[in-house]
Amino acid sequence: MATRLSRIQEALRRHGFDALAVVPGSNLRYLAGLTLHAGLRLTVALTPVEGQPTLVVPGLEHPRVAETAGATFRYYPWNDDEGPGHALARAVRDTALRQGSVVGIEHTVMRVFELRALEQALPGAQFVDATPLLAELRMVKDAAELEAMRVAVQVIEETLRQIVAQVRAGMRERDIADLWERAIRAAGCQPAFETTVASGPNSANPHHTSGERALQDGDMVVFDGGAVYQGYASDITRTFAVGHPSNEMRRVYELVLAANAAGREAAAQSGATGESIDTAARQVIERGGYGPFFIHRTGHGIGLDVHEPPFIVAGSRAPLPIGATFTIEPGIYLRGVGGVRIEDDVVITADGAESLTTFPRELQHLS
Ligand code: CO
Ligand code: CO
Repeated sequence: MATRLSRIQEALRRHGFDALAVVPGSNLRYLAGLTLHAGLRLTVALTPVEGQPTLVVPGLEHPRVAETAGATFRYYPWNDDEGPGHALARAVRDTALRQGSVVGIEHTVMRVFELRALEQALPGAQFVDATPLLAELRMVKDAAELEAMRVAVQVIEETLRQIVAQVRAGMRERDIADLWERAIRAAGCQPAFETTVASGPNSANPHHTSGERALQDGDMVVFDGGAVYQGYASDITRTFAVGHPSNEMRRVYELVLAANAAGREAAAQSGATGESIDTAARQVIERGGYGPFFIHRTGHGIGLDVHEPPFIVAGSRAPLPIGATFTIEPGIYLRGVGGVRIEDDVVITADGAESLTTFPRELQHLS
């Protein structure tokens, strides 16, 4: 954690920040290994550009937090009858923050009451979005982070294999999703998000919630699931056929498969960007005549959050650094008919890119 703190402070210096304010969530986990619930009691970590970070923390959480984060922080516990104001004021003072200080905050994570508390404790400070700074740091995974992701991938692929072997026509989407989530937990992980099993016409909805529909002959069935191991997520999608899907759905499958391969190939080129990968995958689908039916970006970064930078999308023009992990998940969705998506988790390496997910991509039939 010490090296991580020094990387963060080095980034603060480079970006001209005096401090970084982080509330419970994945950035606090990244900073100090702390998993804290974003409750209504003020919890905020202030990391100055130099020196020891401070943590304002509810008194009832203090012992557990101090046990995990140890000497990373100086602690400022507060209890319910006094409120957090005094603890925050002392933390701010001891972090040497003053009027005019530039304080990085998490624009997409911090809540209004947390920002108001900081504004009150730091009148005249400038609160600046630190999302790009945190993205730049978190995008590059170190060896331990990659190792955790490999385990998360292994678990999601093994459990998918187990579940697919049990699935039969006539089973309901929801029951299959439940079986998969139970298998993920049995393997010592948590589901990374609500596991999706989308069959037949439902597979044409990329955000379908698994429901009552039973699998039937001719269906395409989209399985989308992820596992979390030591905080790090995996995210895989495979599409299967039940019995005999239409010729059109078979053709759609082949196109998505080719788009996925083109995306992975583009990722392995030196200087690959989110845009170059998105373009490579999208062109395959456009040339096949289904461009308007590929209705989302090609992928998203993955790590402590299931969706995080970098985004694999037009306009994402920064070269992806070695250690960046993200999904490649082209899809084609024909409303009322069916859909296909094939999703892999990929890491940029010194000599190209590696797909962490290796589950077979060719069309498989469920019995
Ligand atoms: Co997914
Ligand atoms: Co995904």
